[in-house]
Amino acid sequence: MFDRRHLLLGAAAASLLPSLSRAQTLTDEQRSASKTANADPTLAPDLLLPAKEMKWWRDAKFGVFVHWGLYAIPARGEWYMFNEKVSPEDYARLAAEFHPHHYDPDSWARLAKTAGARYMVMTARHHDGFALWNSPASYGHYDAVHSAAHRDLIAPYVKAVRREGLRVGLYYSPLDWRFPAYFHPKELPDNAALFKRQTYAQVEELMRHYGHIDILWWDGGWLAHKGTDADAAWFWEPDKLNRMVRKYQPDIVINPRSGWQGDFDVQEGGAPITGPIRARPWEKTFSINQGGWGYTPENNVLNADQVVRLLVDAVVRNGNMLANIGPDRDGIVPPRQAETLKGVGLWLKRHGRAIYGTRPGPFQPVDGVYGATTAGDSVFVHIVGWPSDDLSLPPLPRKVLGARNLSGDAVRWTADANGHTLSVPPASRGSAVTVIELRLAPEAA
Ligand code: GLC
Repeated sequence: MFDRRHLLLGAAAASLLPSLSRAQTLTDEQRSASKTANADPTLAPDLLLPAKEMKWWRDAKFGVFVHWGLYAIPARGEWYMFNEKVSPEDYARLAAEFHPHHYDPDSWARLAKTAGARYMVMTARHHDGFALWNSPASYGHYDAVHSAAHRDLIAPYVKAVRREGLRVGLYYSPLDWRFPAYFHPKELPDNAALFKRQTYAQVEELMRHYGHIDILWWDGGWLAHKGTDADAAWFWEPDKLNRMVRKYQPDIVINPRSGWQGDFDVQEGGAPITGPIRARPWEKTFSINQGGWGYTPENNVLNADQVVRLLVDAVVRNGNMLANIGPDRDGIVPPRQAETLKGVGLWLKRHGRAIYGTRPGPFQPVDGVYGATTAGDSVFVHIVGWPSDDLSLPPLPRKVLGARNLSGDAVRWTADANGHTLSVPPASRGSAVTVIELRLAPEAA
């Protein structure tokens, strides 16, 4: 299937391949979480979307991420090929076993909708290089049409997500482990040219052939798993790449991982969210199955309370949340991940007013205690931990007309010159978060 002249495989190229110990490999994966740190803000600032085109994204707050591809078959995560040093030829054999009999993106989109998500993002192509769509530009026809699936799997996903009224996102990794030039771009210029051309042409396919796309979610713009995405900008020319994207999709929201700063920041992993309100819009992304992004047997699955807590901690700091599921080789969403999403949906049914369409503030969050969001004449106080029976809040510029516990249970509040005090009996507190709405007197005309 692969042309040995270009892909891995002559002895010279093979000797250039990294030989890493398992421990170092894990570090690579972990390092990928912080690789966007130094994007150059002076690179193509004209590409940033104006605030009015970012509004829907900032209002949406919650998306569902899907990591799915050939790596669902060995079930050891999406880094399986690299971590276990599987050669491209051996890995490619998985394509002949890729029969996703239960692939039903409508059911994924319905699940995301039930969870209260407003958008989805799916891995059109991960670092293994296998494209889930009909991709003539794919090196060696390494795509779903030429696999046992024999069809384009992105087109029905895009349709399904739209049908549920959700915004459509595509994830694309310019990184492709099949190309030795990924590890040695300067030493292997011919292979590097081929590698780069594939990325530009595949992204063009995705941007041209699937109608309107709302989000482009880059990942892996770095080189040789070293440095950051921005360090690889000399190679990818992310300004040129994203200019091409915007030519086809003028209002697409773009994440930061191509080496260009992007329209929002990303913070990856399930670690707690702390600190003040962030100036730039940002997104917390993590896998609900903490065992991996791509399918692995469910292990350490976050429950709905834990995910709600991450959502609230992101939203009160100007963030969104993109929570990942990893369907199995047949396309089935594992049951505990589905259950977590449904639990988040139940919480959002009752508390969605305090999340969707809000903006953070007026209070700065206090880590582990509370944060706030605002919409119209309401301030929502999200209490994540009670330091004592009462919670004291700073004063507000407008009179508070009343306080309501969104769970329907009791709340007592008192106001004095120094601010407000809220108290909610333990039985009326939420298991993850207690949300109190303060209704403010209308602003004087
Ligand atoms: C990490 C993982 C990568 C995953 C990404 C999602 O970088 O290494 O596999 O796709 O997170 O944000």
